[in-house]
Amino acid sequence: MNEIKVFSPASIANLSCGYDILGACLDGIGDEITVRKTKNKELKITKIFGQKLSKNIKKNVAGVSANAFLKDIKVDCGFEIEIKKGIKPGSGIGSSAASAAGSVFAINELIGKPLSNKDLIKYAAEGEKAACGSAISDNVAAVLLGGFTFVREKNDIIKLNSPIGLAFTILHPQIEVKTSDSRALIKKIVSLEMMVKQSANLGAFVSGLYTEDYELIGRSMKDLVIEPFRSILIPKFKQIKSASINTGAIGCGISGSGPSVFALSKGLTTAKNVENAMKKIYDNLDLDYDVHVSRVNDKGIKIIKTL
Ligand code: HSE
Repeated sequence: MNEIKVFSPASIANLSCGYDILGACLDGIGDEITVRKTKNKELKITKIFGQKLSKNIKKNVAGVSANAFLKDIKVDCGFEIEIKKGIKPGSGIGSSAASAAGSVFAINELIGKPLSNKDLIKYAAEGEKAACGSAISDNVAAVLLGGFTFVREKNDIIKLNSPIGLAFTILHPQIEVKTSDSRALIKKIVSLEMMVKQSANLGAFVSGLYTEDYELIGRSMKDLVIEPFRSILIPKFKQIKSASINTGAIGCGISGSGPSVFALSKGLTTAKNVENAMKKIYDNLDLDYDVHVSRVNDKGIKIIKTL
């Protein structure tokens, strides 16, 4: 195999109760990454479609993650990377994670898959570090493993059960929020009382995924710590949240570092009704937006074609 094209999906981090811990993989939205073997042993980004981003491999997250991976493995060729961005940077649905995971996944496949997707997470997280200053694994874990994922710590990442009926509605207001700025908004000290409440929600959420108890999942999707600070960045956040819940969503919160907002519903029909409820609110604003409905993508990143 000399060339591979992969689809690297968007993802939702945090899911309200698991800041930097929980992730979920989406369907249909994502980046396409093509990687080709080259004779000279260089790593290059040759083309980027869809967004204006640096082709410098020390600045572009796909180059940074690929470089980190190539430092640890022996290869006798170089690689050129083409990126077709399907996810806008600063959207809160894992734009940097899709590119960072896509390049390492593609290279690993091209060289005969010496590492598992789980082993690749730490390299993809290096791309995240280049993007926002922290080697966060929540989005890249969801991309590489699919479904719902849990980061206990950097090298201890667990794929969780994914109840079949769940569907996301994602509202993306067309404003860019840099992850580093959004992280800087959060208070660094959390009270003991908050810690207890938030841990209780996180534990119950995971339990709900395994018992497929949708009510419990919904009750646990609370964010007492981060949402109060970040929600000020999102126009009509409170209205969107109330409308989503009133329309039948089991939970609603900020997707990753924002500005996207997600609602989780039992079934695609409810997720589509939530989409309409969100649109009604945003149609009255002078702001462009997109809304997507997506099932949970349990497979994660995938190969589109090989040559
Ligand atoms: N967990 C990270 C955050 C995700 O909320 O900052 C970044 O997309």
